[in-house]
Amino acid sequence: MRLTLGEGSTPLLSAPRLSKRLGLELWVKWEGANPTGSFKDRGMALAVLRAVERGAAGVVCASTGNTAASAAAYAARAGLRAVVVTSGGAVARSKLAQVHAAGAELREIDGSFTDAHLEARRLADEEGLVNVNSINPDRIEGQSGAAREVLEQLGSAPDVVALPFGGGGNTVAYAQGFGELLPRFVLGEAARRRDTFASAIRIAEPVHREEVARVLERSAGEVISLSEERLASAWRALAREEGIFCEPASAAALAAVETAGLRDVRVVCVVTGHGLKDPDAVP
Ligand code: F0G
Repeated sequence: MRLTLGEGSTPLLSAPRLSKRLGLELWVKWEGANPTGSFKDRGMALAVLRAVERGAAGVVCASTGNTAASAAAYAARAGLRAVVVTSGGAVARSKLAQVHAAGAELREIDGSFTDAHLEARRLADEEGLVNVNSINPDRIEGQSGAAREVLEQLGSAPDVVALPFGGGGNTVAYAQGFGELLPRFVLGEAARRRDTFASAIRIAEPVHREEVARVLERSAGEVISLSEERLASAWRALAREEGIFCEPASAAALAAVETAGLRDVRVVCVVTGHGLKDPDAVP
């Protein structure tokens, strides 16, 4: 069986105005161009396929919204049940619309994202569902293809790769995909992890914290903690200087690059989700 909605093969866009302003060569890996509008589709295609192959009754995930939208779409495509667990009131409107449109079951809990994770694991055990959060290695394997695409599109490894740091799954996936050609990882996280306006990365406890620490050690990388103002200004800059409208969380990569004081290096910023995901964030 094959399971695809056309994920991957996303553009690697040059960013001439930002490059000039920052004094470096900046490229944007535009993951908002995936079928459900975020990078999650790469890993979800593989994780749902493997769930089907294992004869699962359905899939379940905890999500700040994008994983949910992606799981809902790929489960629909595969003819599987999908259950998504969210922290009540914390998910952007368009992402909920994607979940409802695909006919997934939404369970809103009164608790944090960590509580939602625990509930998803409980549902997986009790209802025979496959958990398709990034603790599922199929998700990481599928997502790692993005790093290989960057190597192909650029012709060699960049000096720096910059990513938003929520739970850390995408960081682990890129490290896997780059393999021996590991660039320096510069990660942007919200200083206000618990209540940032960048709702996709409203994650107090990163699940992959330890693996991320190992990637940073191997790559001489760093995590940069970003104020709400820094996140918002990088978000505006992507749209206004390059015409790339992303959701607020996705701007954490550029905000980290702006803050890290890099010069004369080749940088790939991974812009993880489309701006239409969270239209209410636009003032
Ligand atoms: N950017 C976007 C748009 C996201 O949706 C997420 C995570 C991240 C960045 C952070 O990636 O967790 O791999 O470090 N979204 C998850 C979700 C939590 O449920 O959609 P990470």
